[in-house]
Amino acid sequence: MDSLPVDRRLLVQDLRATAAHVDALHRAGLLDTTERQRLMQEIEALSAAPEAFPFEGDEDVHSAVERVLTERLGPLGAKVHAGRSRNDLVATDLRLWVKDAAAALAGKARAMASVLADRAEEHAGTIVPGYTHLQRAQPVTLGHHLLAHAFPLLRDAGRLDRASESADVSPLGAGALATSTLGLDPAATAAGLGMAGAFENSIDAVSDRDFALDLLAACTITAVHLSRLAEDAVLWCSQEFGFATPSDEHATGSSMMPHKRNPDVAELARGKAGRILGDLVRLVTVLKGLPLAYDRDLQEDKEAVFDAHDALAPALEAMASMIRGLTFHPERMAAAASDPALLTTDIAERLVRDGVPFREAHAAVAGVVKRLEDEGRTLGDVKPDEWADLDPRLGQWVEDLLDPERSVAARTTPGGPSAASIEAQLASVRAHLR
Ligand code: ARG
Repeated sequence: MDSLPVDRRLLVQDLRATAAHVDALHRAGLLDTTERQRLMQEIEALSAAPEAFPFEGDEDVHSAVERVLTERLGPLGAKVHAGRSRNDLVATDLRLWVKDAAAALAGKARAMASVLADRAEEHAGTIVPGYTHLQRAQPVTLGHHLLAHAFPLLRDAGRLDRASESADVSPLGAGALATSTLGLDPAATAAGLGMAGAFENSIDAVSDRDFALDLLAACTITAVHLSRLAEDAVLWCSQEFGFATPSDEHATGSSMMPHKRNPDVAELARGKAGRILGDLVRLVTVLKGLPLAYDRDLQEDKEAVFDAHDALAPALEAMASMIRGLTFHPERMAAAASDPALLTTDIAERLVRDGVPFREAHAAVAGVVKRLEDEGRTLGDVKPDEWADLDPRLGQWVEDLLDPERSVAARTTPGGPSAASIEAQLASVRAHLR
């Protein structure tokens, strides 16, 4: 029954909501100015030292606050719960918490994007293979790849901001489900809480947890993005790739194998995605088929929300710190991108410029590559006078194309890997961050 171990975390929000409700009762003429003053003084004193709040065997944070006010102020404390219910109160408390927590997470997602932008700028011209199907595909730059992780995080920050806005509606005044007969003014209460507005339907106000789902969905998508970045970091730090080394701070050894240097931080961040998705599924499942209005099942909402937040916030910070601390190895990346096979599309596109239909150009280059492969050779082994024999449409000009730097520079399409495109992408990320 008791939810205090979980919802005591909402103490500050419960005191804020209680103060706003005291104002509502005062506005309705149910508390005089002196009574309002005495209650506010007590609430302020409790708010000033939340860690010293005298919890004792209370069912939940709401009963605890009412108990303490009544113990300290007698019948005046006992007036506070008029026209409100724990149903509108708990929804208000959690909304206040989510509003701030979502905004703080958005800030952390932006901080992570900012680290990626810094590292991308540093490596704007560092050649690296771009992958599809985890097979080397075409040369790009490390800056291009890192920015491909920054943009999703900026979108996450936007989603988290919208989750904050979604929470920014006050349910206070809805009472148990049907408001009250006391003539309270929910819009004034909402303004007192610094919230954007009040509920429009009191039954909805106490049963709606969409704002919690919005936060959990935004956290889940952010965690999924973080897991993809983490996976790249894990691959880069493997001996197979060798593109990066984690700093000592972000790697751990093995308890058995003396040589190990594991990218644990990235693995932990990757693992959090499973947990956070679990929190979303947990709450959405509780809500499915739940009758209106408040049902005690809703008590499960807070654990899911707190757990997702507590998993994501440190994961964002740790991954930002890990990416900041990575030592990249441009020579290893250049070696991985040096296979001339990565430039076959460039050759086909040059034939397209000469008027060859793309499908024919594709087949011609594929034929040459296959033939060389059968001979145990690559495009890099072809002698200058051999090109025309391989295919009459080819010539020595192909050799100029077998250069990853040139390939990257030639991809001048906006959004691509050329230096000018990377500069524009960086400017866009930085503008979002300002
Ligand atoms: N502890 C409850 C919760 O977390 C507060 C609301 C209880 N309301 C009720 N009518 N029992 O949801």
